[in-house]
Amino acid sequence: MTTATAITPAQPELLVYPPRAGEEPMTAVQEEILRLKKERNAVILAHNYQVESIQRVADFVGDSLGLSYAAAEAEGDVILFCGVHFMAETAKIVNPGKTVLLPDLEAGCSLSDSCPADKLRAYKEAHPEVYVVAYINCSAAVKALSDVICTSGNAVKIVERIPEDREILFVPDQNLGAWVAKQTGRPMRLWPGSCYAHVLFTVRALEKARAHYPGAPIVAHPECTEAVRDLADEVCSTEKMVAFCKSTPADTIIVVTESGMIHRLRREVPDKTFVAGPTENCACNDCRFMKLNTIEKARDALRTMSPEIRMDEAIREAALAPIQRMLDWSR
Ligand code: 13P
Ligand code: SF4
Repeated sequence: MTTATAITPAQPELLVYPPRAGEEPMTAVQEEILRLKKERNAVILAHNYQVESIQRVADFVGDSLGLSYAAAEAEGDVILFCGVHFMAETAKIVNPGKTVLLPDLEAGCSLSDSCPADKLRAYKEAHPEVYVVAYINCSAAVKALSDVICTSGNAVKIVERIPEDREILFVPDQNLGAWVAKQTGRPMRLWPGSCYAHVLFTVRALEKARAHYPGAPIVAHPECTEAVRDLADEVCSTEKMVAFCKSTPADTIIVVTESGMIHRLRREVPDKTFVAGPTENCACNDCRFMKLNTIEKARDALRTMSPEIRMDEAIREAALAPIQRMLDWSR
């Protein structure tokens, strides 16, 4: 099932989503997923960037932080995780007794790829004094080398907890790291990684969108570049975007993150209009990794109980400690 997207004829370069009219009936594939979910005693967790048809059948849709708590608290036998690999891996780390399924094992993340564990290990050997704060968008092996994990939703809070006399290395997102450093006033060494999708947003493309909707606030994810963050009215995690869009008096909002976010926003804030943040070349911005998951692959995962997330127990245990620290610090 696809959301009807109205492309305003006068602004063909923008994707504009008007207030939501209502829910379409479930498709046969969605009905099968709901049936299989019961049979398998499964919980379906979905990230805000998943396609609408997947978000619709999920028990919980949220950001990386909310999904980590939901995974830790999940009951039943199976977690079908509709997101990217590091997220499903995190679910397995915090709740190892469950069978964790990911519809497409190739659903990776450019941020995670930018920080291989062997490079981080080498850096730590050369700089043993650093306190490593790892954005959750990294592999289990990188988490295992870190002191504490953070998400975009709690990064400021986490960094504020770290003793003043410690030198911080923030991995792997230099953009989120720079934003947190600015928010906290805490200097940090930044790993040179970035989200390939979020850095595609430019000031020029967003100014064009704003010219069409002069009163519309811009809400942007902190993985965007500094120039884009500076232009935005609000910079926050995907979950906080929901709260921002609910509370702003504006009836139209320009959303500068992956396009799946708009499905969640339309569901939670049905009376407002959302404009997808455009890039230089496209009216919206899909993460090619997130979009590897399809409703059919989600159904097949429950049918076949694969692909399954498996990991070395020693790495899982080592990765759990910094995740647990994050969960404790951000309660
Ligand atoms: P959130 O934690 O804000 O949902 O972000 C996850 C992500 O991958 C952003 O690109
Ligand atoms: Fe990774 Fe960027 Fe995709 Fe998020 S949007 S999963 S950070 S590549």
